[in-house]
Amino acid sequence: MASLFDPLQAGALQLSNRIVMAPLTRNRSPGAIPQAITATYYAQRASAGLLITEATAISHQGQGYADVPGLYGTEQLDGWKRVTHAVHEAGGKIVVQLWHVGRVSHTSLQPDGQAPVAPSAIAAKTKTYLIDAQGRGSFAETSTPRALDASELPAIVKSYRAAARNAVETAHFDGVEVHAANGYLLDQFLKTSSNHRTDDYGGSIENRARLLLEVVRGIVDDVGGGKVGIRLSPVTPANDVHDDAPQPLFEHVVRELAPLGLAYVHIIEGATGGPRELPDRPFDYHALQAAYRNAGGKGAWMVNNNYDKALAEQKLASGEADLIAFGKPFISNPDLVRRLKEDAPLNPPDKSTFYGGGERGYTDYPALA
Ligand SMILES: Cc1cc2nc3c(=O)[nH]c(=O)nc-3n(C[C@H](O)[C@H](O)[C@H](O)COP(=O)(O)O)c2cc1C
Repeated sequence: MASLFDPLQAGALQLSNRIVMAPLTRNRSPGAIPQAITATYYAQRASAGLLITEATAISHQGQGYADVPGLYGTEQLDGWKRVTHAVHEAGGKIVVQLWHVGRVSHTSLQPDGQAPVAPSAIAAKTKTYLIDAQGRGSFAETSTPRALDASELPAIVKSYRAAARNAVETAHFDGVEVHAANGYLLDQFLKTSSNHRTDDYGGSIENRARLLLEVVRGIVDDVGGGKVGIRLSPVTPANDVHDDAPQPLFEHVVRELAPLGLAYVHIIEGATGGPRELPDRPFDYHALQAAYRNAGGKGAWMVNNNYDKALAEQKLASGEADLIAFGKPFISNPDLVRRLKEDAPLNPPDKSTFYGGGERGYTDYPALA
């Protein structure tokens, strides 16, 4: 029976335990460049079996929030090199989450102040986070996007692939996680509420999944499937997305991913950061996992959302999961692995320092003596 503290080989990733740090945006990378404290922050958490970085923009167009990092400029990659070096020195493993926000952006963050891009010109009823010239942070309505022309999609696939190669070859990440969750670009293409296209990228399930699969297959060709994970959130209402029939949609997606030899499939159960069950959006996660396994998928099955130790151990013991990703508990507990092992109390997270700022609420949470 697997426990949280057992090692696992997930594709090319040899993990010392089943505890994963979930991706957590912290808005502390001015100029999209990870800083020296970013390296300290991740290295402090290196006892996790795997660290997944905060979402990281694959291109300027993929940016949607102030002071989030990128993977498309030399200084950004130099910043990340410092991070991966510090984590590896501390004995950890780290993958970077590849992000294109699509419509969840603001003209002030886009190249030449243009409109953000999306499958369809439908605004998300959601907010982004901006920082003004005086350094004050605030939440603002996202800008109405323009619909991408099909002729622009190959360039987006290319940006994902270039970012993945930069991550592995230049910045020395152990792998990449494709962010296809939480209402960002790839999730916008998947779901009926945000994709009203009538071309090969809209309409049927096969068409709505096309861009995601082109991106993942391209990255796998470039860096090898064993270094690639993917994050999906079948029913989350985050960033104003909804699908009319998520069960067949996501079963199609995982069946198509099965032959690619991915390191892991990462599923957010329920509403990201909210309830694990949504009465108006039922979803069968067992059936999803079975669809992947029945199609020959060998990647580790990673789950997330509101886990505590008891639920995590239960899911591992029943075989419903191979890896458990913890978000907020890792913000406030750099030594979460040890605390879980010793059943020590957890530091509570301070929400006021989640987004933006410096060391406070970032690198100053205490570890056990
Ligand atoms: C401050 C903060 C930042 C987050 N940033 C990201 C992100 O960059 N990428 C992502 O996929 N999810 C992000 N999430 C969602 C978390 O990865 C996770 O799904 C959520 O917190 C639920 O897990 P938990 O209950 O263990 O915290 C973020 C959550 C929080 C609280």
